[in-house]
Amino acid sequence: MPYRLAVLPGDGIGAEVIAEAVKILHTLEAASDARFVLSEDKVGGAAIDAFGTAIRAQTISLAKRSDAVLFGAVGGPKWDDPKAPVRPEQAILGLRAALGTFANLRPARMQPALVHLSPLKPEIVQGADVLFIRELVAGTYFARPKKYWQDQRGMWRAVDTTAYTEAQVERTVRMAFNLARGRRKRVHVADKQNVMATSRLWRDVATRVAGEYPDIEFQAILTDALAMHLLYRPSQFDVVVTDNLFGDLITDEAAVLAGSMGLMPSASLGEARNRHGGYRGLYEPIHGTAPDIAGRGVANPIAAIQSLALLLRYSLGMDREAQAIERAVDDAIELGLRTPDIARSGEKTAATSQVGDAIAEAVARELRR
Ligand code: NAD
Ligand code: IPM
Ligand code: MN
Repeated sequence: MPYRLAVLPGDGIGAEVIAEAVKILHTLEAASDARFVLSEDKVGGAAIDAFGTAIRAQTISLAKRSDAVLFGAVGGPKWDDPKAPVRPEQAILGLRAALGTFANLRPARMQPALVHLSPLKPEIVQGADVLFIRELVAGTYFARPKKYWQDQRGMWRAVDTTAYTEAQVERTVRMAFNLARGRRKRVHVADKQNVMATSRLWRDVATRVAGEYPDIEFQAILTDALAMHLLYRPSQFDVVVTDNLFGDLITDEAAVLAGSMGLMPSASLGEARNRHGGYRGLYEPIHGTAPDIAGRGVANPIAAIQSLALLLRYSLGMDREAQAIERAVDDAIELGLRTPDIARSGEKTAATSQVGDAIAEAVARELRR
């Protein structure tokens, strides 16, 4: 049975990096019996220009029918008016909500060959390997009321709501504990329980669930303190679980541990399963459309390619292929095949497509072994 994938490249470098991930899929087809049926569609600014909406209903149903979704990035200066009723970000937020992918896995690992990239001292960043679990379909991003309006006296007002239910927190926290079992067996929950009621719920639920996992070391931490400790002592963290807004902020900070936004993949998983018994997941690099470098062929495709590896592992049960990709990525970096964001100063740099080609060839070699 072929695998059905929705491929939604989006805008700016989203399209450039997804093209490289698709190359890897073709390599897998040539090297194995796996067959992929790819359905590509416009989302974000590209869809606003073509159809007047950031994501069409038919694109959402395509995603729901697929075994997994590979997403690039959306947005850019052309569509940046924050008051516009139609905005590119609605594509990714709508997709996350429609697919119910509540757990967003964002691994941040410092590759030994890239220690020089970090503004942090080598002895601090060496060995950093953190898996962030960001709640993705509730909290401040989605709870109502959410509005920006002018009252009778002409005063501008705005409100966002942060709301969670016990069930929404519990399913996310359980994902963290389950994944910690395959890692270094340590979970931190990050919250602001000194200020926020939702955070007290997060801490209570996480503490209760921790009781069912006596093999996992559990600790709660205030998110502001986490922001600091991540840079002072990153290696003390293994799995960190937190809400939607905190998780967004802290994972961009964590890109400093990996060395670049171009090295941060993600997998979003929910309750839904696909026809192959895997997660009907959504896979996207955490970076945006990078308008500052878009169109120049220099974007780092590694985050997108690593996101594809996560797709193969969590949605298609292709762990061997996922590992082959991860090894090929490590090799490309070690051999010095690097886009400008991860090159040493003065080092010759590679283009997006050269990195993609080299990784595809290395994957083919790995699979022939
Ligand atoms: P960004 O992640 O696009 O870029 C931040 C910085 O990181 C830039 O200097 C960029 O050049 C660099 N960078 C990012 N990805 C890179 C890669 N693969 N290779 C090399 N360098 C890379 O964030 P931003 O500039 O704040 O946002 C730009 C646009 O993207 C905005 O419209 C924003 O809303 C959107 N955005 C979309 C998503 C998404 O679709 N999931 C995520 C984040 C931002
Ligand atoms: C991310 C992005 C998105 C988010 C935006 C584009 C809506 O920053 O995936 O981290 O805030 O979730
Ligand atoms: Mn973000």
